[in-house]
Amino acid sequence: MESPTPQSIALLGRQPALGLAELEALYGAEKVVPYGSVAALLDLAPEQIAFDRLGSTIRIARILTTLPSNNWRDIERYLLTTLPEKAASISGKLSFGISAYNAQTNAQKLARTALLLKKAIKATGASVRMVPHKNLELGAATVLYNKLTAQNGWEILIVSDGKSTIIAQTVRIQDIDAYAARDQARPHRDAKVGMLPPKLAQTIINLATGPITSNESTGILVLDPFCGTGVVLQEATLMDYDVYGSDIEARMVQYTIDNLTWLDTLYPQAGDYRRVEIGDASKHTWNFSHLNSSQARLIVAGETYLGQPLTTLPSSEHLSKIMYEVNQLHHRFLKNLAQQIPSNTRICLAIPAWRGKREFLHLSVLDYLSDLGYNRVSFKYTSQDNLIYHREGQVVARELLVLTKQ
Ligand SMILES: C[S@@+](CC[C@H](N)C(=O)[O-])C[C@H]1O[C@@H](n2cnc3c(N)ncnc32)[C@H](O)[C@@H]1O
Repeated sequence: MESPTPQSIALLGRQPALGLAELEALYGAEKVVPYGSVAALLDLAPEQIAFDRLGSTIRIARILTTLPSNNWRDIERYLLTTLPEKAASISGKLSFGISAYNAQTNAQKLARTALLLKKAIKATGASVRMVPHKNLELGAATVLYNKLTAQNGWEILIVSDGKSTIIAQTVRIQDIDAYAARDQARPHRDAKVGMLPPKLAQTIINLATGPITSNESTGILVLDPFCGTGVVLQEATLMDYDVYGSDIEARMVQYTIDNLTWLDTLYPQAGDYRRVEIGDASKHTWNFSHLNSSQARLIVAGETYLGQPLTTLPSSEHLSKIMYEVNQLHHRFLKNLAQQIPSNTRICLAIPAWRGKREFLHLSVLDYLSDLGYNRVSFKYTSQDNLIYHREGQVVARELLVLTKQ
């Protein structure tokens, strides 16, 4: 990071490695640095961070100070000496709450500190309301419901890395209801093709987008060659990107069209161009005439065919057969795609990796990427092995493969 005083802290989601890679892809390693195991520091003001498109960052906060200690008494002393004065300058009633991550404290101590802070603020004559503290962290619903990120609200975020502690004020928090609404209310979902969470779709698109500059003069066209029910294309549309989907199944193509049409009713101004068609990704010819007419930059983002859904690890013979077939498809698809897309096109595909007894089993096509015409993108803070989206108990995980066309 160029500046020694980062302005913002990002609290990363369930798999922090994905959040780090996402931030690094968009803002570059010179603006982002990991902080402890759950956060990243950004050399950007919170307002410069495109929070709405981040799938793997759950909160963005403005850094107030960095204390050279993780001792709770030092943290409490800072809060009690600094914040009451700040609160006194707020007009109207202040609502506040405290969330602590990796701090050396417990819920009772934190609740006591919050109460002391409330009393200290009251003593300045300011009007104040405190949300109840039952755990070390306030839930997103509590923060949103109590408007703690609004003008008269404060969520004080305390994050330790084991040595130092950052004290920050939350500016944005993931709106879980909005994600749930656009996931569950869309006309077509299909458990069989898998339920790609919208947040993961955003992260896939961000990894495919790469560095964003506020003055990117041309638009972006997102191709998803395995579009299924259209989650990736929905999220791309919400980023105001042009979208192009194809899928081998006519039913899925119709699902994507219907879901995008439904999205139009909620967000009529999002996205200008869309094209959805039937196509076998291993041999389809995509029509990129839109790139010529619009000067848009192409990116490829999607979740490929993950093989048959599995609830338990099959016999090694059965698993080898599944992996062989899925690998063949990916090999043919990547070869076909490479012949049609411009050099330097960025790609992020969620591809399957299977949770073996001890480790993840990867598609063998990963060993032939450069022969197929691709370079794998590496990240400063996230190793390739960590770019795997996986939930406890799942046999089929999603490996996020980030490439550029040679
Ligand atoms: C895991 S799903 C993708 C789901 C998608 N992310 C969504 O939002 O619903 C994989 C999709 O790949 C499609 N598919 C399977 N083989 C294909 C092929 N050879 N060419 C194109 N699509 C294929 C399936 O029909 C399925 O819709």
